[in-house]
Formats: sequence, C-alpha cells, structure tokens
Amino acid sequence: MQDMEPSSDDRGVAVTALPVIFDCDPGKDDAFALFLALALPDMLDVRAVTTVAGNAPVDRTAGNARRIVEAAGRPDIPVFAGCARPMLRALDTAEHVHGLDGLGGSGLPGPRRGPLEGHAVTALIRLLDESPAPLTVAAVGPLTNIAMTLIARPDLASKIARLAAMGGAVGRGNATDAAEFNIHVDPHAAHVALAVEAPVTLVTLDVTRPLRPPLAWFEDMEDCGPPGRALAAMWRESPVSLHDVAVAALLAWPDLFDLEACAIRVETGDGAQLGRTLISRGSGPARIVTAVDETALKHRIRKTMNFYKSMS
Ligand code: RIB
Ligand code: CA
Repeated sequence: MQDMEPSSDDRGVAVTALPVIFDCDPGKDDAFALFLALALPDMLDVRAVTTVAGNAPVDRTAGNARRIVEAAGRPDIPVFAGCARPMLRALDTAEHVHGLDGLGGSGLPGPRRGPLEGHAVTALIRLLDESPAPLTVAAVGPLTNIAMTLIARPDLASKIARLAAMGGAVGRGNATDAAEFNIHVDPHAAHVALAVEAPVTLVTLDVTRPLRPPLAWFEDMEDCGPPGRALAAMWRESPVSLHDVAVAALLAWPDLFDLEACAIRVETGDGAQLGRTLISRGSGPARIVTAVDETALKHRIRKTMNFYKSMS
C-alpha cells in the first residue's frame, strides 16, 4: 500500500491527498466517479476499489472496475470483488440502464487482469484495520459490502473517517416511487451501514437526478484519452445522471455543496415502501447534501478530465 505522498498547494503548503476506498457497482456513473477521482491524485488517494452486485452481477462490476482503473492508467489500484447478492432480498440488477456488461457502449477493452484474490469484505476489514488513521469510504452502489464489514467487525466504525454514500431520496425514488436503486437493492444493508457510528454524508437522488449535462458536454471530452472517449460513448448510447460522480466531487470539492444535519431511517418492511429513506432534517448524527453549485461542478469536472489528454 503506497504511503500518502504529501503534495503541495499553490502556496507550497504541503497537503496530503484524502485516502479513500471506493465501494461501487460499475455502472456508467460509477465509472465516471472513478475516472474523476483518479484524475485528482493531489486531492484523492484511491487506496482500493471494492465492488458489489447492483447495476450488474458482481463478477461484471468487478471486471468493470478493472477495466476502469486500467483505462485511467492506474492498473496498480487493487480491485476486489464483493457480495454477490443483497443480505436478504434477491438481487435486482439494472442492465436496462447500464447495458448488459454494465458499461454499455464504453468500447473499453476487457480487463488485462482480474480482481485480486480475496473477498472485498475481507479487504475492507484489512484496509480499515491496518490503516494508521481512519479512512474515508465512498459508497456508490448497494451497501451490502459496507454492512457486512460492520457486522463482522463493528469496532471498525472507529476507523471510518466518513461514509459518503450515494443513495436514497427525500422525494420520489427511481427503483420504485418510494425507493432509490442503491437502497432498494439492499435496504437491510442500508439500514446497517447508514447507522454506522461514524460521520455519514448522504447524496440523494434529489440532488443527483438533475445533474444531467447534454451529450455535447461529454463529446467535448473525446480528446481526454480512453476515459473521455469511454464516457462520450456510454452517454451517447444512453445517458444517466451524474449520481455517483457527485460523491467523488463532494470529497474533492466540498465547497460546492450545501449540507444539513439529519437523521436517516430506512424502511425495511415488505411492500411498496421498502427501501424508502426517511430523512428528518435539521438535527441528527448524519449529513444530507441539500444543494450543489451545478455550474461550477460541471466546469470543474470538465477541466479535471483534461488530466487524461496526454493518454493515447
Ligand atoms: O440511483 C442511482 C444509483 O444506482 C447510482 O449509484 C447508479 O450507479 C446505480 O447504482
Ligand atoms: Ca452506482
């Protein structure tokens, strides 16, 4: 595991990139989130990518995570395959949104190598256990891996600096009227993970659904190496909102986001309300993103993707 190499800001002040574990289910917007994070090495130090069943089965999301880190020029980043199904529910996937391979239309080559040996939950336990300081966990898929980690080792809550998760909705869901996809896939895991005794920040559909730049914005990135070409191709095939990208951006550019204290509950009873996030705002242990400066966000993302221009 590489040490945190301090970088320096424009005043020459040494700053250290934020160490982050990315738990995800790539997925088009997961791919964009990872491409963005890996284009900000002075700000985000992606220590590992753990994958979970969600948008596609876990063998596919794990292979996609390998395709993504390799396309970003970071084949060194460890990728682990995680939980193949939710804790209680049967797995619901979203190939109709993300394509049969989960990165529909990307044109990315298959992975040169598979995920590392060992389950993602085992890797999460080891990474959190061994880290001298608490780590930030960005969770942009169903929360099964995170929940299973906390069930196995509840003490590791103290090694989570922050759980920044994309999921839930105050208003209408997207998997059902009541529930957002990541929560609906595994509401029981969401109940466990979002109750972790560590700082939780939730980025909900209410903020991410409107983040839908026009195709031209993506096509302008076609000269940003394999990541830019893949993003333009995926959004040309079928656009999705920048749901997961918002979590990577929140960690890199918190100044663009408004947060509010809240308490989060997850509906785990069977029926039409399953997976609804009940969010009482104003006070509570968690934080919910209430607004984002969309213009500044799109500008910074677009500028950051120039990081890949030198890649052929
Ligand atoms: O509802 C949006 C979320 O579900 C995103 O994380 C997307 O990748 C899918 O997993
Ligand atoms: Ca996702």
